[in-house]
Amino acid sequence: MFPLWKWIPAKVAHALSPIGLTIYAAFKGSDQSLVWQPFDWNGIHFPNRLGIAGGVDKNAQHILDWQSLGAGFIEIGTITPEPQTANPGKIIDRLWGQKTLWNKMGFPNLGQSEIFYNLKAAQSECRLAVFANIGKNRTTSNQDASEDYRILTEKFAPEVQALVVNVSSPNTSGLRDLQSGTELKNLVEKVVLAASNKPVLVKLSPDMSTDQLELAVDASLSAGAKGFVFTNTTLDRESYPQFPKEGGLSGSAVALRSLATLKSALAYLGERRKGLLIVSAGGVLTAQDIKERISVGADLVQVYSVLVFEGPSFFQKVAQEFSA
Ligand SMILES: Cc1cc2nc3c(=O)[nH]c(=O)nc-3n(C[C@H](O)[C@H](O)[C@H](O)COP(=O)(O)O)c2cc1C
Repeated sequence: MFPLWKWIPAKVAHALSPIGLTIYAAFKGSDQSLVWQPFDWNGIHFPNRLGIAGGVDKNAQHILDWQSLGAGFIEIGTITPEPQTANPGKIIDRLWGQKTLWNKMGFPNLGQSEIFYNLKAAQSECRLAVFANIGKNRTTSNQDASEDYRILTEKFAPEVQALVVNVSSPNTSGLRDLQSGTELKNLVEKVVLAASNKPVLVKLSPDMSTDQLELAVDASLSAGAKGFVFTNTTLDRESYPQFPKEGGLSGSAVALRSLATLKSALAYLGERRKGLLIVSAGGVLTAQDIKERISVGADLVQVYSVLVFEGPSFFQKVAQEFSA
């Protein structure tokens, strides 16, 4: 049934996928977690190292589906304070052969109140760690952005295991400017203060120079961040000139950059890496890729694009390979 998906236009497939996911989870899901390479960090237990990346369950409507399909943890969002629609025009496209996605979504989501409601509704049956990925509304200026992040942190920190500060989406104008030294330090400080001891991670872009990456890492740590997600989607078009300049590429197209960013950040962190949570996302398409990210030094791994190309059974396939 899954290969049929390929013949449906990307936007329609994207709109239908929540229904498909719920049906699939009802038939193929399990009430047992998939356990392989279990991991504990900061009092949080992960039955396995593979979770869903930001943007997959933007509205926290499928937490229990992903749990039953074998995810080891779940990142909801990106959540913004107010609901907002996607960017105008075409927002998603895919290259099946190259396992690459292009998207220009721009945080379409139901807004904090409704997402909070959805999260609470799933809590009594949820056994997995939930991270809340937070961002700013597109109508909020960068100058006022920290207030959006603070509001979201105060609301979600008591209900989740960690917060992920998203300053790396290429689809909200100017958002990536918040990754630069002083701005990032001020922003993360405010989030850490509002998070009342819940760990705060920072999600960074794969498109930074080494200097920019190191500055962003230092700024985050000096502000009290406890880890990172490396990385978001890429603006690089060198191998994919057919896509528009705006929008982010994921899947194969970002794999080398994400891996290089992970390696370079870990090399820079050195001894300071101890105690941090390092999450790798970007171009993870096989169990072998997961093994590589872990062997390089990631604690956890996340996926988005491969779920589009391979379907939601990916978690079960990976568990089989790790248990073989
Ligand atoms: C359609 C789409 C929507 C996304 N939305 C978000 C988002 O809302 N927040 C976020 O932090 N990342 C978002 N991402 C980025 C992913 O979380 C991930 O960092 C990136 O796609 C690289 O992983 P992948 O190669 O496994 O897809 C999105 C990616 C795609 C493809």
